[in-house]
Amino acid sequence: MKVLVTGGLGYIGSHTCVELSKKYSVVIADNLINSKIEVLERLNSIAHSKVIFEKIDLRNKKEVAFLFEKHGDISGIIHFAALKAVGESVEKPLLYYENNINSLLNILEQVQQRNSKINFIFSSSCTVYGQPIKLPITEEEPVKKAFSPYGETKQICENILSASSKLNKYLRSISLRYFNPIGAHESAMIGELPLGKPQNLIPYITQSVAGVREKLTIFGDDYDTPDGTCIRDYIHVTDLADAHIKALEYLIEKEFSTNEVFNIGTGKGTSVLEIINAFESSTGKKISYKIGKRRKGDVDATYADNKKALKSLSWSPKYSLEQALESAWNWEKNYRKIK
Ligand code: NAD
Ligand code: UD1
Repeated sequence: MKVLVTGGLGYIGSHTCVELSKKYSVVIADNLINSKIEVLERLNSIAHSKVIFEKIDLRNKKEVAFLFEKHGDISGIIHFAALKAVGESVEKPLLYYENNINSLLNILEQVQQRNSKINFIFSSSCTVYGQPIKLPITEEEPVKKAFSPYGETKQICENILSASSKLNKYLRSISLRYFNPIGAHESAMIGELPLGKPQNLIPYITQSVAGVREKLTIFGDDYDTPDGTCIRDYIHVTDLADAHIKALEYLIEKEFSTNEVFNIGTGKGTSVLEIINAFESSTGKKISYKIGKRRKGDVDATYADNKKALKSLSWSPKYSLEQALESAWNWEKNYRKIK
């Protein structure tokens, strides 16, 4: 079975390709807007079968049509490709709407022209829930007004996929709402490679410990949480990758068209200060930090109720927080050739 992985050279996509390559033939479509071509070689050095790469801009209808013509035997699609920087999306909303929504529309247009079953997984985010009403967050939590154009593109894309699945009897689809993916493949050959200054906590920590960035600023210690710092649900990227395989297998078994959503998180909340302690104890490295102001748009606490995925997808996270943090540091060291 051939699976198309859009955005497969990115952080989550590359880890998912490694797991997919154990059983499936993998084609990546990526335009390298937020990834480097060197990832392909690194990925193929640990993949179980060779992954094919097509340099395609998914915003371009003709390029997408060419992709589907060349790989007419695709029966699964995992759609990671999107721009994902929340702050940038506020400054350049049109870029985000154009990239994230048109890419999905162009793919679905091709899917609609086919007369054979297609299994589709979409990368969504816990950001669709906004400020949670109830913790842990179940899939029943209402989707609220998005904080950013980025978050809004996730909501719109989920709706487009749902509408399309209702009309197309061949389309089976799932939106996976990720919580906070962290860590790297155990080989340390691939990992998170943010371009420029990292906006997310873990890559900022590893780069600051590596001496590439200034000391960490904790964005606020006056939140309504036990230690005052924000709580998130951090999940090892390999566990997240595995959730995609399980979701694909779930769809393969489905006889009729469907559209579902699943939370993918560990179910456990961890504060920023707890992350710092866990990082220090799992790596033996000290993190220098200072307390700064709150970051606009941050919510006090979010963590998943993951029971639906545990039960229906027969998936469960395997890695501990400490293992995830250690793998993030191993990747940073390997990439920067630090002893
Ligand atoms: P990433 O930026 O590392 O990977 C995305 C990949 O998509 C990149 O390689 C980029 O070059 C490619 N891409 C973007 N636009 C494209 C286009 N028009 N045509 C072809 N390729 C294009 O991001 P990631 O962290 O791996 O995230 C993957 C997906 O998961 C995204 O949809 C993101 O919104 C979603 N997500 C990520 C997180 C997270 O914390 N990383 C959390 C929730 C959801
Ligand atoms: C970010 C995204 C969100 C996305 C989520 C999962 C923003 C505003 N939101 O949220 O859309 O769904 O990732 O990938 O970017 N922190 C610091 N100092 C730092 C960096 C972060 O204290 O230098 C804190 C943050 O305030 C937060 C926690 O660390 O409390 C985690 O931050 P981050 O990794 O950016 O993830 P989210 O805030 O969950």
